[in-house]
Amino acid sequence: MKRRDLFFYLPLGLAGGFFAWLGYRTYTIRFRPRPEAGEPVWREGAGVFLAKRGELALWEARFFTYPLPQGELKALLLRLPGPAPGGVSLGEEHYIALSRICTHQACTLNYVPDPEAGSILYNFRYDRPFLGCPCHFGAFDPLLGGKAVYGPPRYPLPRIRLEVRGEEVWATGHEVPLRPMEGL
Ligand code: FES
Repeated sequence: MKRRDLFFYLPLGLAGGFFAWLGYRTYTIRFRPRPEAGEPVWREGAGVFLAKRGELALWEARFFTYPLPQGELKALLLRLPGPAPGGVSLGEEHYIALSRICTHQACTLNYVPDPEAGSILYNFRYDRPFLGCPCHFGAFDPLLGGKAVYGPPRYPLPRIRLEVRGEEVWATGHEVPLRPMEGL
């Protein structure tokens, strides 16, 4: 190959690499199937009172921190319209508690109760409230047990174990692995 050929092949190679990366990234973000949030494996933890029965309206969230040996884990309790994997039900009341740490690169997630606003803020149109990541616009569905549904994150959010004590909802542990701090 002559030296001047490099001026042709080098940019061509770079452009090819860029478009291959773009295609792979688009496939990963939009089309590659993500793992479901199945039945959680729990690790026993401290007991933290979260809410009384009937205190939260449908889709209302309560933010809390869950104590871990390495610090406080930001989390939220959410009342759902139906049962979710890893959540609890009190008659017709359904709850789930999720870590608010994004499984992509550990940014703190926001709760997006208004999907219309979410479609503008996160460039993601969904038919119900979700958890959105302000760093790279990942999204997670609480009704699917915290499954990642959009953007770079692949893994679901770790769930906080809920326990019903009389008329009260308590947090009593968390799912393992506690992504992204543990596991892949
Ligand atoms: S850190 Fe949340 S999408 Fe990247």
